[in-house]
Amino acid sequence: MKQDWGESRLPQWYNEHLKFAPQEIAAYLRRLDLRSGDVLADFGCGNGELLRHAAPLVAYALGVDVSPEQAALARKAVSGMANAGVLQSSFLECTLPDRVFSKGSARKSLHHLTDAEKPIFFKRIGLRFASGALFLIEDAVFDFPKKDLDAQWPRIQREAAAFYGARWHGMEKVFENTLRAEFPSDFDTLSSALAEGGFRVIKHEHPACFYGVVLAQKG
Ligand SMILES: C[S@@+](CC[C@H](N)C(=O)[O-])C[C@H]1O[C@@H](n2cnc3c(N)ncnc32)[C@H](O)[C@@H]1O
Repeated sequence: MKQDWGESRLPQWYNEHLKFAPQEIAAYLRRLDLRSGDVLADFGCGNGELLRHAAPLVAYALGVDVSPEQAALARKAVSGMANAGVLQSSFLECTLPDRVFSKGSARKSLHHLTDAEKPIFFKRIGLRFASGALFLIEDAVFDFPKKDLDAQWPRIQREAAAFYGARWHGMEKVFENTLRAEFPSDFDTLSSALAEGGFRVIKHEHPACFYGVVLAQKG
């Protein structure tokens, strides 16, 4: 079953159980090396916590999210910040405001696009990013070929239990659904999708075999 964030209770479940904690946000943002002149877009901004932390560090921060509920929370998170905005739109249909973006982020959101849709997304938004711009992705990204998912399942479950710790029990079903019914990519497929937008991977880490942190730069 595909999990539809546009019209479901998933955003509320996610915000309660897998909250993006302030110390995690700080560590995540360090990878983007934010500067005062930066124009940042956060795709799948969720409740806007990242935007709230990033906006004071950059010239402009935009969040994009398809869920009306999440977009409303994100607007609330940055209310009073003149240099932040939220666009309620799907990734494939979003029309970014007329700015040149220097930093991009997509945390736990791109697995909602199929492997066929990801290159279309990067091609569309890549046009709006400056040469040298950085794009950071943290998401379900396999360090093995996606076709080997079943064979890798015992290893995935072992690593997931260690990765999520105390949170693991109670989220096994959502986890399995995300990996099997949503659209995580393997690293090579994600790299090819990024290349469609002119981005080249310059760094990647896999804290677990099913999870990746990928930093790309626009040529
Ligand atoms: C798992 S949450 C991650 C939120 C936040 N980035 C974080 O790290 O906590 C995924 C977010 O992506 C949004 N999303 C899912 N599919 C989307 C799509 N096709 N277009 C735009 N946003 C989407 C959801 O509404 C949700 O807020």
